[in-house]
Amino acid sequence: MTRTPVTVTVTGAAGQIGYALLFRVASGQLLGPDVPVRLRLLEIPQAVKAAEGTAMELDDCAFPLLSGVDIFDDATKAFEGTNVALLVGARPRTKGMERGDLLEANGGIFKPQGEAINAGAADDVKVLVVGNPANTNALIAQSHAPDVPAGRFTAMTRLDHNRALAQLSRKAGVAVSDIRKMTIWGNHSATQYPDLFHAEIGGKSAAEVVGDQSWLENDFIPTVAKRGAAIIEARGASSAASAASAAVDHVHTWVNGTADGDWTSMAVVSDGSYGVPEGLISSFPVTTKDGEWEIVQGLEIDAFSRARIDASVNELAEERDAVRKLGLI
Ligand code: NAD
Ligand code: LMR
Repeated sequence: MTRTPVTVTVTGAAGQIGYALLFRVASGQLLGPDVPVRLRLLEIPQAVKAAEGTAMELDDCAFPLLSGVDIFDDATKAFEGTNVALLVGARPRTKGMERGDLLEANGGIFKPQGEAINAGAADDVKVLVVGNPANTNALIAQSHAPDVPAGRFTAMTRLDHNRALAQLSRKAGVAVSDIRKMTIWGNHSATQYPDLFHAEIGGKSAAEVVGDQSWLENDFIPTVAKRGAAIIEARGASSAASAASAAVDHVHTWVNGTADGDWTSMAVVSDGSYGVPEGLISSFPVTTKDGEWEIVQGLEIDAFSRARIDASVNELAEERDAVRKLGLI
């Protein structure tokens, strides 16, 4: 029996991440090797032609799972019937722009997209926000979609999670696949807290296995937290293929579930767990099953971790207050 295609909407489809992401979605890596997909691409009018070029290349790949590609410059149409929404397009910070200007410019994008998702997306819609500032953009979109369960809006910290796995695997001399229970807490920003106390190598705390507090504090945490800036410095452009890969991982794990004895990092709406104010979209350790996520409960948080989680969560609260002041939520 042929399955009904899953509708995946990608915004910012003509951008760098879009170019690295679309081919992986169309090849089946997002949802699975037996799930046909229909792509709906959203771009601003000036970039529609470039998106059409990408759609021509998608055609030329003859992906067996790709059942169609449509391109829009109108959010309401782009999210009609959407099952999976990948919100990648955002307004990057340009010279002379203050953080408040950036939040306001992105509010102009994520408010109408939240409204469009509310109006026309499928009942089972799952939303991943990649465009920065991702957590707060997700909060803006979610607050304009009152008919969609808040938990369906998530933001991406899987790239930070993957960066943390890579750094730890190199330091400990183990394979990435030997590491379990990595966590990124808080905001997708330089205040994020990658946690090695709950991560495990061979069933033992990764912090204990490494046994080097100075490396953890002065090397590991800043390297992971500032990796985005380091990539921009080296490449002259922000991470693209690794960001697309993390977006694929995020949705694949959400839909297909975490492995027994493991969890992942996702920025999800807080229910007050671990002292994170209710309603903030913050990164937590989460397990997923049958397309639903759950925050891992009962972890002991020592003073070192507490201070770092609080710092990142305070930044999220400040961003929330700023967009509230601007009337965006
Ligand atoms: P890019 O500038 O190459 O592409 C962005 C695209 O979005 C452009 O084609 C632009 O036309 C489009 N766009 C702008 N406004 C739009 C709108 N209203 N509707 C639809 N499309 C719109 O940028 P990129 O490198 O692809 O990065 C995209 C975003 O992802 C940036 O905000 C970047 O900071 C962020 N990012 C997040 C992470 C993460 O881990 N969460 C990692 C890397 C990059
Ligand atoms: C990243 O983590 O690579 C990006 O979010 C960096 C950025 O500021 O675009």
